Amino acid sequence: MSQFDVVVIGAGPGGYIAAIRAAQLGFKTACIDAGVNKAGDAPALGGTCLNVGCIPSKALLQSSEHFHAAQHEFAEHGITVGSVKFNAAKMIERKDGIVTKLTGGIKFLFQKNKVESLFGKGSLKGRNGDLWQVEVDDKGNKSVVEAKHVIIATGSVPRPLPLVDIDNVNVLDNEGALNLTAVPKKLGVIGSGVIGLEMGSVWNRVGSEVTILEALPTFLGATDQQIAKEAFKIFTKEQGLTIELGVKLNEIKNNKKSVSVSYEVGGETKTETFDKLIVSIGRIPNTEGLNAEAVGLEKDERGFIKVDDECRTNLPNVWAIGDVVRGPMLAHKASDEGVAVAERIAGQKPHLDFNNIPFVIYTDPEIAWVGKTEEQLKAEGVEYKKGTSGFAANGRALGLGKAKGTVKVLACAKTDRILGIHMIGPIVSELVAEGVMSLEFSASSEDIARIVHAHPTLSEVLHEAALAVDKRALHG
Ligand code: FAD
Ligand code: NAI
Repeated sequence: MSQFDVVVIGAGPGGYIAAIRAAQLGFKTACIDAGVNKAGDAPALGGTCLNVGCIPSKALLQSSEHFHAAQHEFAEHGITVGSVKFNAAKMIERKDGIVTKLTGGIKFLFQKNKVESLFGKGSLKGRNGDLWQVEVDDKGNKSVVEAKHVIIATGSVPRPLPLVDIDNVNVLDNEGALNLTAVPKKLGVIGSGVIGLEMGSVWNRVGSEVTILEALPTFLGATDQQIAKEAFKIFTKEQGLTIELGVKLNEIKNNKKSVSVSYEVGGETKTETFDKLIVSIGRIPNTEGLNAEAVGLEKDERGFIKVDDECRTNLPNVWAIGDVVRGPMLAHKASDEGVAVAERIAGQKPHLDFNNIPFVIYTDPEIAWVGKTEEQLKAEGVEYKKGTSGFAANGRALGLGKAKGTVKVLACAKTDRILGIHMIGPIVSELVAEGVMSLEFSASSEDIARIVHAHPTLSEVLHEAALAVDKRALHG
């Protein structure tokens, strides 16, 4: 029976990074993963993120943005392209190529770092002295490996909607939404969260009439509401997404050629018929098949594996990271927890500050933030000052043809320490990194105001927002 220092279950961005870091630290490491490629005929490492999440969605967002630009933006640059055609199947093929390249890359990284890659479903069998026994089930072909430490990184799966089954033909989860090879004339989306907005944007840009039905009365409730309101206006008024808030779903019928949804909103009952319906109402932790109950692995009331601040479960030397534990369901959070756990096993003392995890929504304009929102600061009774600045007069943004959006810096009224940075605008997914660094290094708004920002760059808007905290914006 093979013995390891560390066995990781799951090779998503949490698990594969944990395995690589553990191997780098000198541990004999194996990583078990049951993921298969789109065709279902070969293992595919990388989890949700690489196969059916972050990476494929960003590939489609880029393709659809190019199509939209060719149709609506090229002319103002003096570029005439004649009639522009869109081939959804080709877009999906490009996306699949990127996925294959990156998932193959992890296989290579495992080889390079001497991580043993095991294919199959991993589950905890029990203890053999100080070691954990982990079963690997490759379609009925079972084997057992032993390990001193086990890191569970089994991720999450889409939250099911009791009103309708996902068939990934007409009613789609993220996998189906990322694989449509023809543009649906009318697309319905349940949930105006991150997937709903990103996927809604993709198909809206390439010609679908998109209606998003959201249960909550507030749009993007976790986002700073000044930014969320600006986003809502742009998405609905300028981009033509229909977003209904405060919706109560009554019935969903999959008629095979179409899907009808009846719902109540604002006291009215409505029925809409769509060619395709995406269900994106959140994700739930995936602990299926781990044998958690039998070995006494504790979960919380929402089904997440219970861990302390350092990702220790209630079982000795069993750790859990990523989407399967509390905290935001984000790839970078999963990876950073993976690194931290491997280093803790090695006796190091890494620290991960949950307040400094950046969030990004890859719409156009993008939305990004780090730290507290104004709503959170008010609720916590924290006195703060704020500075805002827009992209409208930023030279780089104007050159890009993307001069929309705002950056807001929130700082402590007494100490000037930055508490939160919120943005909507062009490529703010990159700009937020400066915000993360500021929070991580406990910067004041004056620190950002005094740092030289290159000209002309989008980062000058963050600089101006920091200056504005002290009411000394130069271009405001
Ligand atoms: P996962 O990536 O879910 O990986 C879990 C792995 O464990 C899988 O490979 C699975 O096959 C395997 N597994 C499960 N059970 C077993 C078992 N018993 N035995 C063996 N293997 C098992 N996050 C971002 O930060 N940025 C984004 O832009 C972003 N975009 C997203 C877009 C979409 C459409 C979706 C759905 C998600 C997106 N996310 C994004 C979220 C991100 O994908 C997840 O937070 C991240 O993948 C979680 O990583 P993980 O390692 O915890 O789990
Ligand atoms: P989400 O939590 O972002 O949004 C789900 C939305 O559905 C919420 O607004 C919720 O109020 C709504 N909802 C729930 N039940 C409903 C119902 N019955 N009827 C109508 N609306 C309902 O979840 P989503 O979009 O499914 O994404 C899952 C997770 O994946 C995200 O939480 C995020 O962690 C991750 N993700 C991250 C991305 C990024 O970082 N850019 C991109 C896509 C996903």
